[in-house]
Amino acid sequence: MCCKVVFGTQRLGQSNREAEGQGAKILALLNVASPSHNIFNSALTVALAERGHQVTVITTEAEKRPTPNMKTIVIEAAYDSSRNNFDLESYVEVSPLDMIFISYEWGCYTCEEELRSAGAQQLLNYSSTERFDLIITEAGWGECFFGFIHKFGSPPVVATSGVGIPPWISLTTGNPENPSYIPNYLLPYTSHMTFSERLYSFVIHIITTSLYQYSYIPKQEAIARKYFNEDLPRFMDIWRNFSIILVNTLVGLDDPRPLLPSVIPIGGMHIKAKPDPLPKDLKLFLDEAKDGFIFFSLGTNLRSDMLTLETQQTFLDAFSELSQRVLWKFESDALPRQPPNLRISKWLPQSNILAHPNIRIFITHCGKMSSIEAAYRGVPVVGIPFFLDQRANAKKFSAKGLGVTLDYTTLTKESILSAVREILNNDR
Ligand SMILES: *[C@@H]1O[C@H](CO)[C@@H](O)[C@H](O)[C@H]1NC(C)=O
Repeated sequence: MCCKVVFGTQRLGQSNREAEGQGAKILALLNVASPSHNIFNSALTVALAERGHQVTVITTEAEKRPTPNMKTIVIEAAYDSSRNNFDLESYVEVSPLDMIFISYEWGCYTCEEELRSAGAQQLLNYSSTERFDLIITEAGWGECFFGFIHKFGSPPVVATSGVGIPPWISLTTGNPENPSYIPNYLLPYTSHMTFSERLYSFVIHIITTSLYQYSYIPKQEAIARKYFNEDLPRFMDIWRNFSIILVNTLVGLDDPRPLLPSVIPIGGMHIKAKPDPLPKDLKLFLDEAKDGFIFFSLGTNLRSDMLTLETQQTFLDAFSELSQRVLWKFESDALPRQPPNLRISKWLPQSNILAHPNIRIFITHCGKMSSIEAAYRGVPVVGIPFFLDQRANAKKFSAKGLGVTLDYTTLTKESILSAVREILNNDR
């Protein structure tokens, strides 16, 4: 069995002699219904295919870089079922406790929709005698696909985790997660907590992990039993069998914590050290920003065009008072009353834009991928977190003096301008 895999941001995308002639047959179950997770995971699967491994991927969108050794099975409309049933922008009002329930509900709902898809049916129709040398899967929100691990004879499994090191990793690997100095991933605390913060972190930790083990995973198991005509082992046992977990965590941005040898930090594996060239007109807009530019994006799940018109106007009013140019990822064409220094676009090559020398500030929702990209490129942030780990990520920037956090629910033109000016005028 060959599983010699070389990781590292620098080397992704390069061919590797080591793999020649000894390619492994790999199945990747990448079904978290979020485009950013797809960007993250496809960096791994494409790199493996380029090194000569035969990779079959079941995933939420077609691969944009067609790769010879890769076969992609697309779970059709995976994002729609999430989008149509979960009002992501509204979760900014939700407490961490409620967020736990919503995130597990989201995981079960999207996973079942995906198992019913034509894409999943195609993989379900594979013969159970089919064998893979290795299975790759993501460590959260897509567990009903664990049935495929059993179906294909329980080969070694490598998991990835786009959101860093969520608490259930401690249940499944034994990796230490001491809530007294490791705040729960939903909480905006650092490793230096007050007594009440530690107590709350502890309570949230117990609830997150107990629900995962005794409610969420059994539900995912029940969903899988409907679609796999086999006696499935208990999913916690499948999970505990995983060989290694590749976690998206960056030394320097994330607080130090102990890791087992099987929990390997590969933060930002999707980032290309040398950015790709930008489209010509976009490059010109940014090159000519003589006072620099501000990049504003809420990532791939939240949509700026779903913010209330009032909030959109608040941003426009603030931007119109700046001498910097502003680039805003805005998902529709209709944004009236745009100031002349603003440019909107539905899709933008974020990591490459963050590498532009004229960038001054990144206004971000602080998703894990965006946070790591900003830290990697050294761009200060104005964080406007909405849900899940975003509040915790925003806190990491503000606690380390790398950014300012704004509360979305109390946003005003003045608060936006004061955060932006704090970063523009503070030499630190
Ligand atoms: C754990 O892995 C071993 C070896 O790969 C396999 O034989 C066994 O069935 C697996 N157990 C479960 C519960 O998946």
